[in-house]
Amino acid sequence: MDLTAIAFAEKDPISESVAAELNAVHTTARIHRFPDGESCVRIEPEKIRSRVIIICSLFHPDPIILPLLLLAGTLRDYGAKELILLAPYLAYMRQDRRFQEGEGISARYFAHLLSDYFDALITVDPHLHRIKSLDEIYAIPSHIIHAAPLVADWIHQNVDNPLLIGPDSESEQWIKDLAQRSLAPFIVLEKIRRGDRDVEVSVPEVKQWRRHTPVLFDDIISTGKTMMETISHLKRAGLSAPVCIGIHGIFAGDAYRDLLAAGAERVVTANSIPHSSNAIDLTVPLCAAARSILKLSG
Ligand code: R5P
Repeated sequence: MDLTAIAFAEKDPISESVAAELNAVHTTARIHRFPDGESCVRIEPEKIRSRVIIICSLFHPDPIILPLLLLAGTLRDYGAKELILLAPYLAYMRQDRRFQEGEGISARYFAHLLSDYFDALITVDPHLHRIKSLDEIYAIPSHIIHAAPLVADWIHQNVDNPLLIGPDSESEQWIKDLAQRSLAPFIVLEKIRRGDRDVEVSVPEVKQWRRHTPVLFDDIISTGKTMMETISHLKRAGLSAPVCIGIHGIFAGDAYRDLLAAGAERVVTANSIPHSSNAIDLTVPLCAAARSILKLSG
């Protein structure tokens, strides 16, 4: 096989199932950190083929982005002709406008950077809000996987009588899709974010849904404040403890523990970011996207 799947050692366990599914040579890259703070990336040159998929989820992106670019350069030096970045979680999509005077639009700068180093991008449900398409900011072809079919299957198999709840208008796109697939009712709330950890969510009249199991769904769980604030409203309204589903579980600080302590019955995520809450496996659709970009059969 003319294909290598590479990931940073111990960072993206999904790389093993992706390599197996694509019948690619699997290898890892190691990062050596010098005392002065610089990094050196080391690969196993004998495992590098002309087409390479780099699996690197971009959660906590700043410490990994420079090694990732160094890896891309190293791979090209060792003969890689085509470099596909498979980043199940794509960072810097939420800074999609200038929220305060003096700030930059990070989503654009980040996209320029990645576009210079890779030939194509595969990702899962990027946070497209004011930017409507990755093509607006990425100069390379991108392929987006939608987790909704897998999430709907998970809900169908694990939750009785679900009521789907989206915490803000941005989640409406996912909630409507999920509701159609799961044939479940849904409501979308209104959120006001005043700061990184200061979130207010308004909940409409929900008493009629007391016999349902609330399923909070969001694309990203970061501090968990959006979900925690929603949980406290649902509790006051007498609804049962909700199942919280996020596609990308970043869980900044103690967010996972805090969410459970706030009253989530269970917290479930996809494996775009490795975490003990992963219950939705994205391997198959990610590999289908890779096959389509690489024009592979099977
Ligand atoms: C933002 O609009 C996203 O869709 C999520 O609602 C947000 O990232 C959740 O953040 P947090 O967990 O910090 O409230």
